Amino acid sequence: MRIKNKYKKPTALGCNAGSRSSLAVVLWSLVGCLIFLHLFTLVHHTDVQNKEMHMGIHHPLLLQLEEVEEENIQMPPPRKRSPRAVKRKPKRPTTLIDEFLDESSQIRHIFFPGMKTAIDPMKDAGNNSFYYYPGKIWLDTDGNPIQAHGGGILYDDRSRTYYWYGEYKDGPTYHAHKKGAARVDIIGVGCYSSKDLWTWKNEGIVLAAEEKNETHDLHKSNVLERPKVIYNDKTGKYVMWMHIDDVNYTKALVGVAVSDYPTGPFDYLYSKRPHGFESRDMTIFKDDNGVAYLIYSSEDNSELHIGPLNGDYLDVTSEVSRMLAGQHREAPALFKHGGTYYMITSGCTGWAPNEALVHAAESILGPWETMGNPCIGGNKIFRQTTFFAQSTFVLPLPNLPGSFIFVADRWNPADLRDSRYVWLPLIVGGAADQPLEYNFGFPLWSRVSIYWHKRWRVPYRWSDKY
Ligand SMILES: *[C@@H]1O[C@H](CO)[C@@H](O)[C@H](O)[C@H]1NC(C)=O
Ligand SMILES: *[C@@H]1O[C@H](CO)[C@@H](O)[C@H](O)[C@H]1NC(C)=O
Ligand SMILES: *[C@@H]1O[C@H](CO)[C@@H](O)[C@H](O)[C@H]1NC(C)=O
Repeated sequence: MRIKNKYKKPTALGCNAGSRSSLAVVLWSLVGCLIFLHLFTLVHHTDVQNKEMHMGIHHPLLLQLEEVEEENIQMPPPRKRSPRAVKRKPKRPTTLIDEFLDESSQIRHIFFPGMKTAIDPMKDAGNNSFYYYPGKIWLDTDGNPIQAHGGGILYDDRSRTYYWYGEYKDGPTYHAHKKGAARVDIIGVGCYSSKDLWTWKNEGIVLAAEEKNETHDLHKSNVLERPKVIYNDKTGKYVMWMHIDDVNYTKALVGVAVSDYPTGPFDYLYSKRPHGFESRDMTIFKDDNGVAYLIYSSEDNSELHIGPLNGDYLDVTSEVSRMLAGQHREAPALFKHGGTYYMITSGCTGWAPNEALVHAAESILGPWETMGNPCIGGNKIFRQTTFFAQSTFVLPLPNLPGSFIFVADRWNPADLRDSRYVWLPLIVGGAADQPLEYNFGFPLWSRVSIYWHKRWRVPYRWSDKY
């Protein structure tokens, strides 16, 4: 059992009962101690809540984001099939996940609504709309579906612009061989810019595939996933980190590219196994003090590793620490609030969706503790599948401390270019539902909640600002 320092303190101050030998005195002191500890925790807890109130956690603007929306999806009636077909393949899809993965499902439009319902900010902007519709096709300012899968978002202070980087997957989906996963050849890293987080201008492919050189990491037959970009204040360069692999995912490398401009072109530098370990799903995180970290799934995806980058962000240092050993998590998305680090991860089930978990730590290098599933609303299957999506990034909302946008991918393994974006409000606030075992039933971390919405908008008057 491990006790966190903040709860140890009153025990050390108040429980100095050892000088008397009488058992009764010792017992009464113990009772006193417990009462004191309890009061301290209550006071401490209230303090935290007050602090959060002052920081705007329960700002009225956020209340609409915290509304719990239920979803009730009717399973389609069983399809009529010939007795021959039934004999050949007696089981028809029975769960919502089966229906989701079944290309010919009658309810596929619920998960992958067609072009008719696409969000077109150019048409809706005059309407002061700014609504997010998780799962709907989202068009850029040219009217084309946004191609920024497995991506991340950089806020560029200098140009006061958001840049969204992701896998540009606008090519045919195929299987390289019988047992190979569904894939699209590398085209490159797409970049989109926005001032309002809703209207996105295509800035083109900022790191392109290599067409001819078959030994190059970026040859189109390889894999480039989860690109993320951060800005280095000291060197004035934009640095991109990404997962690089071969078609069979046996290389497990991390790649690095650099540019003078957020819109590229990025120069590809090299790839490596960080700290000598396999690196598959990954992200990078830049802390308030300018130190950046690489977080990656390793050891056959059974655990995650985290280690600081060096000063120019072009390499890792020798320092590395393991986290969530044996928990088999991937798709890490890290964020920070009130001095605590949080991370959302997914399970490892290929393109199929699974349950998200949130983890927290006081020190970024750990120890990391698992808090549970952050998803709220929808229905049970929605919550067990992260709303049929997988985490990729968590973006702080400006001027609303404690509120974030959870950025996730709803993969479409039948046609990966048609994978959708699921953006939802993520709120940090209030005490955790389930206290962790080691802290005597006192919640240690704030609750992290991702609220399902069919339609929502950032409670901020973007139009007034720009
Ligand atoms: C304007 O927004 C509303 C939703 O607030 C929507 O019902 C309507 O269709 C939109 N109009 C246009 C022209 O997009
Ligand atoms: C092909 O790529 C490899 C690896 O990056 C590089 O060493 C080699 O020089 C390249 N060949 C040509 C012809 O550009
Ligand atoms: C990937 O695996 C398949 C099947 O095992 C094999 O035929 C193919 O050569 C492999 N490709 C590479 C690039 O390793």
